[in-house]
Amino acid sequence: MASGKGIDGEFLRALKQKNDIVEVIRSYVPLDRKGGNHWACCPFHHEKTPSFSVSEGDQFYHCFGCGVSGDVVKFVQEIESTDFIGAVRILAARAKMTVPEGNFDSERALEMKKKRDAHAKIMLDSARFYLSNLYSGDKRAQAHLEYIARRGLAPSTVKRFGLGASLDFYGLPDYLAGKGYFRQDLIDSGVLQEGKNGRLSDSQGGRLIFPIISAFDEVIAFGGRLLEKSDFAKYKNTKETLLFNKSKTLYNINLLKKLKREQPITNVIIVEGYMDTISLYQAGFKNVVASMGTSLTKEQARLVKRYTENVLISYDGDFAGQKADLRGLEILADVDLKVKVVPMPDGLDPDDVAKQGHDAYQKCLDAAMPLIDYKIHALERKFDISKAEDKRAFLVEALKVIATAETESVKEDLLRKLRDKLGVTYHALEKDLQAVSKTKSEDVQITSIPKQKIAETSAGTDKHVKAKRFILAAKLFSASYARDFDLQKILFTDEIQRLIANYVIEKESVGERARPSELFEVLDEDCAELNAILDFNYEDKLTDEVAERFFNDSVKELRKERLEAEIAQCNALCTQTSDLEERRRLTKRLSELIKEKNQIK
Ligand code: UTP
Ligand code: MN
Repeated sequence: MASGKGIDGEFLRALKQKNDIVEVIRSYVPLDRKGGNHWACCPFHHEKTPSFSVSEGDQFYHCFGCGVSGDVVKFVQEIESTDFIGAVRILAARAKMTVPEGNFDSERALEMKKKRDAHAKIMLDSARFYLSNLYSGDKRAQAHLEYIARRGLAPSTVKRFGLGASLDFYGLPDYLAGKGYFRQDLIDSGVLQEGKNGRLSDSQGGRLIFPIISAFDEVIAFGGRLLEKSDFAKYKNTKETLLFNKSKTLYNINLLKKLKREQPITNVIIVEGYMDTISLYQAGFKNVVASMGTSLTKEQARLVKRYTENVLISYDGDFAGQKADLRGLEILADVDLKVKVVPMPDGLDPDDVAKQGHDAYQKCLDAAMPLIDYKIHALERKFDISKAEDKRAFLVEALKVIATAETESVKEDLLRKLRDKLGVTYHALEKDLQAVSKTKSEDVQITSIPKQKIAETSAGTDKHVKAKRFILAAKLFSASYARDFDLQKILFTDEIQRLIANYVIEKESVGERARPSELFEVLDEDCAELNAILDFNYEDKLTDEVAERFFNDSVKELRKERLEAEIAQCNALCTQTSDLEERRRLTKRLSELIKEKNQIK
């Protein structure tokens, strides 16, 4: 399998062979041998009993507690907080190997690295300049200091966040001019901009400066706030650069990382703004980061996930009205973060509340509710349930939300709350919920387009998803009962499952054994689907007698599923075509499919 990450596949294989995963991991955490695996307390989440396992035979690790997994390269990447290439270099040095270089690509990479390093220096220099301005005694700094005081920030807080001041448009270019940077780097790094006359000026001219610092303690950008209301944007951020990609960054991730070294982090508060972050931090809530205004992105969600499983969303009081923000929250749930929403008094933001003191904000935190509850809470604000018409509309919308609940007990709990709120009977609500859920599936049934039919049936029930994962796990870990089963007999619609199935099929076609560790070379980091599959390799789950029975039952069930989908498709094509020859062919195929289906008992 090609590595797909810019490193020669041959080299990577050799690298992994020379770096036994058990030895490498043992150099970071003590391992206990138990059964066929080695065990430890997971270095990636806090726990007291070991659920982190390392497989010597298959050369990968998997934590049954937090679900992370990977090969030896991924492990080094995570534990050393570096990227893929960084991990490859560490492992190469360990095994005394030389990373192949010298081709066009790496020359370019070297060039980029140089540029990146230059930008990092420019950012740091600029941050120092802004910082020194603030306490320079310059008359113009006075307005900045007054502003900071008015917003209630203590000097220690200002220092901790490295706040600074731009006093005008030309101080920074003058300061940087004497330092030997290339003009183009000064522009490309975003700190300076070129005017029509070709003159360079400070991109943040006159603003209060909030340095944005990466998890590796590098200043990567600045947010700048105007001190006074005007027609210009209140905040201006450094443009996207080699160092700064706003959608992959969280403000204050640097201090969060420090905090994690000092104490276990049980949850992280996500706010919108710089000032929200700083005020909360000052009020004693240090586990806070900011999305910097925009809706959360998947990358930001993944970034948070390195620190916690539990996220508290603390946005402005009126955010529920904005659909984009609720969608942002789905992104968090998508990477399996547990999301709660912190309700805010109308019109206030976390900064406003934190200024009233620790307890005021703690009260809001105590009232945090699961996302699904919050959605209903938001609907309540949208409708006036004292009016009969609104009440009905609210009910329908609320039931639609409840229908998406993952478990029956959550549904029941929400229905009970709804009952108390609306003064209707539980029984009636239950019936309505069924009606709402049904309406949806009726819509689906109407669509008689065969392709959708397949997609619909094979996306399948939870049961089917689980069965498919199990079958893939049995194949990946070479369970004897799975050896002769051909994966092509069942349908994988999930992209990741299909990729894994194809990998196994490819391997089998050349008579080789599938190796879980190879999958990490092509799959995305933190692939939840892969983790769910690897979860099955726990104790005897794949090997006891129940496993074999479950495998056989699943195969039958899924084979039936695939046949039913094909039958439906055949039927549909049959009614569509007027070509007699084609119709005869389809009818023959149909009777074969039906025959095979009937043989499955
Ligand atoms: P808000 O408008 O909620 O501002 O924007 P705020 O954080 O409450 O700011 P203060 O209290 O008035 O100082 C939230 C975040 O959105 C981004 C910034 O990151 C800001 O902190 N933003 C906002 C921008 O990037 N540009 C803008 O013009 C406004
Ligand atoms: Mn604010």
